[in-house]
Amino acid sequence: MFKSLPEPWRIKMVEPIRMTTKDQRKHALIEAGLNPFLLKAEDVFIDLLTDSGTGAMSDRQWANLFLGDESYAGSKSYYQLSQVVKTIFDFQYTIPVHQGRGAEQILFPVLIELAKEKGVTEPVFLSNHHFETAQAHIELSGARAKNCICSASLQTEIADDWKGNFDLNELAKEIKNNKKNIVAIIITITCNSVGGQPASMENIRAAARMAHDSGILVIIDAARFSENAYFIKHREREFFDQTIPEIVKEMFSEADIFTMSAKKDGMVNIGGLCCFRNDEFLFKQTQLRCVPMEGFVTYGGLAGRDMAAMAIGLQEALNEDHLRSRIAQVEYLGNKLQQAGISIQTPVGGHAVYVNARKILPDIKSENFPALVLCNALYLEGGVRSVEIGSLIMGRNPITGKQEPSLFEFMRLAIPRRTYTDNHMSYVADSLIEVVKNADRLKPLEFEYEPKILRLFTSRFREIER
Ligand code: F0G
Repeated sequence: MFKSLPEPWRIKMVEPIRMTTKDQRKHALIEAGLNPFLLKAEDVFIDLLTDSGTGAMSDRQWANLFLGDESYAGSKSYYQLSQVVKTIFDFQYTIPVHQGRGAEQILFPVLIELAKEKGVTEPVFLSNHHFETAQAHIELSGARAKNCICSASLQTEIADDWKGNFDLNELAKEIKNNKKNIVAIIITITCNSVGGQPASMENIRAAARMAHDSGILVIIDAARFSENAYFIKHREREFFDQTIPEIVKEMFSEADIFTMSAKKDGMVNIGGLCCFRNDEFLFKQTQLRCVPMEGFVTYGGLAGRDMAAMAIGLQEALNEDHLRSRIAQVEYLGNKLQQAGISIQTPVGGHAVYVNARKILPDIKSENFPALVLCNALYLEGGVRSVEIGSLIMGRNPITGKQEPSLFEFMRLAIPRRTYTDNHMSYVADSLIEVVKNADRLKPLEFEYEPKILRLFTSRFREIER
């Protein structure tokens, strides 16, 4: 077999994208308060802000979308979707939601209320790393979110196959010391916050079994479940000969509940899931919250056609040719940057290349947001939009109000599925290499406007001298 195979699809419809001049980009960036989130999308040439809801649907998805059943209750598309969930994950009960955080907002308050009814006074969730919205919904409901990420993930330049793993010693310690307060463990696959890094089956099993042995629920945050399965197939000996569907079933056999943003591996532009293996009581309790928050239990904030597209997208996510070509594209971009000496989280993850801004701009302090400086410079250079995952997204210490340095200062280049070609990636790499050559000219940032919460989305900045 050829080592490198082209994409397993051909293009049936194109969407023009617009190249701008440097002057136009400078103007657009100033208008946006030096915050890429506030740019107009039409002023962006290549948009790597996120891989969430930005992918291209297949002809089969579009075809099934036309068959969507828009009945308010009991839609045929709901039953099609829940049948697909049963087949892929072996989970009996499905609640559709408008996206991942929809699942988080209906599930976590239910679990926390039930724990409090049982006498838990300081509820806590443990995770390899909570995604921000999961953490926010846990905290909004009066519980704590603690991360037990493995130390390898902190060393960006050291290659380690499983940087998304739990630190099992840390997890064991937490369970031993605080068992009665732990509501659930959340296994985030892949682990977005540390670079889209996978957790191994060995680690998933060990963490889940540790939790179950102490009567603690196991939840999977499943946004990038099939990318995680692909890494397991290629990196974990026991699974070399297994298919992606077999590996997915095996991963999910360790969990009681999963929440999913289907905007990633689920391959839809909007949609999510909250599913239960066999706990009918928890399913019904969560359905009760779904009605006022997301909508009736068989549509959960989605149109029938959205559920129809998701039913196909979930199946396509398991296609190994798709996964190989997708992950090869992320590697392609990562390799080009590494060959130019640019420091990235190594090896690259499933959905994005995470550039280590701290290494590129060592003299810009965390409080002046080196990764955001880099994002803006890349936009100015080539019209490429990326996102800061560092001190800005982390926020201030809620108690002291101080801006402490985040563990990482990443510029994330997230790659939408089936959307851009390797030529686009070469252009992104060339643009960033140019930026890094002149990195000593880049200026630190300070707030012009700082909202109290969710700063990443609406803050405005000004440049200051070094
Ligand atoms: N869990 C993970 C691991 C995620 O990466 C996200 C979203 C969510 C949950 C929430 O899902 O957006 O559908 O409500 N991540 C996006 C990103 C926003 O850009 O990484 P959602």
